[in-house]
Amino acid sequence: MTIRSYKGVIPSFNASVYIDESSVLVGDITLGDDSSVWPLVAARGDVNYIRIGERTNIQDGSVLHLSRATKSNPEGYPLIIGDDVTVGHKVMLHGCQLGNRILVGMGAIIMDNAIVEDNVIIGGGSLVPPNKRLESGYLYVGSPVKQARALTEQELTFLKVSADNYVLLKNEYLSDDVI
Ligand SMILES: CC(C)(COP(=O)(O)OP(=O)(O)OC[C@H]1O[C@@H](n2cnc3c(N)ncnc32)[C@H](O)[C@@H]1OP(=O)(O)O)[C@@H](O)C(=O)NCCC(=O)NCCS
Repeated sequence: MTIRSYKGVIPSFNASVYIDESSVLVGDITLGDDSSVWPLVAARGDVNYIRIGERTNIQDGSVLHLSRATKSNPEGYPLIIGDDVTVGHKVMLHGCQLGNRILVGMGAIIMDNAIVEDNVIIGGGSLVPPNKRLESGYLYVGSPVKQARALTEQELTFLKVSADNYVLLKNEYLSDDVI
């Protein structure tokens, strides 16, 4: 079963959201309008919560989890993802916060309490260590990530285009046009 409850809490989203039937979503997860979750994604909102904004796509094989509350960190680290975010194939997002209009390149790893501001590109295969803050308007690459350069106007425009392309694609899947 794709959508599972944990302690009576079940993932919440409306009919505009596409969830591939091979993905698994558990517990306290909400998705905003027009977001999409592609094959073999595992998202587990058990010991904290996951919030995903509008028009955000989580691509194939990505893993989403979070960290529980502790005495020294009473809120724990939930996973919060904003609007118009493209999460590439096989990305690992753990207890971090992503703003709006971000591209997370394929295979990237973002760890607890890392904060990614709006309008950022993270290169494929990059690692964002715990507590790191990525500044708005820049490309980050490497393991651990370093600021590589400012984004061009074309790349800033592309961030929204990428999200919009995935909205069109998920609409096809929802309409059964792809069968
Ligand atoms: C990050 C990315 C956008 C950079 O593209 P680009 O315009 O070719 O980048 P640049 O040529 O300006 O690269 C800047 C520097 O970062 C390096 N670099 C680029 N991508 C890198 C990556 N993923 N990891 C490590 N270094 C990288 C370049 O070699 C260059 O280094 P140099 O200055 O020492 O020569 C691209 O490489 C990438 O990773 N895209 C992700 C695509 C993706 O995963 N999409 C989601 C699935 S649809």
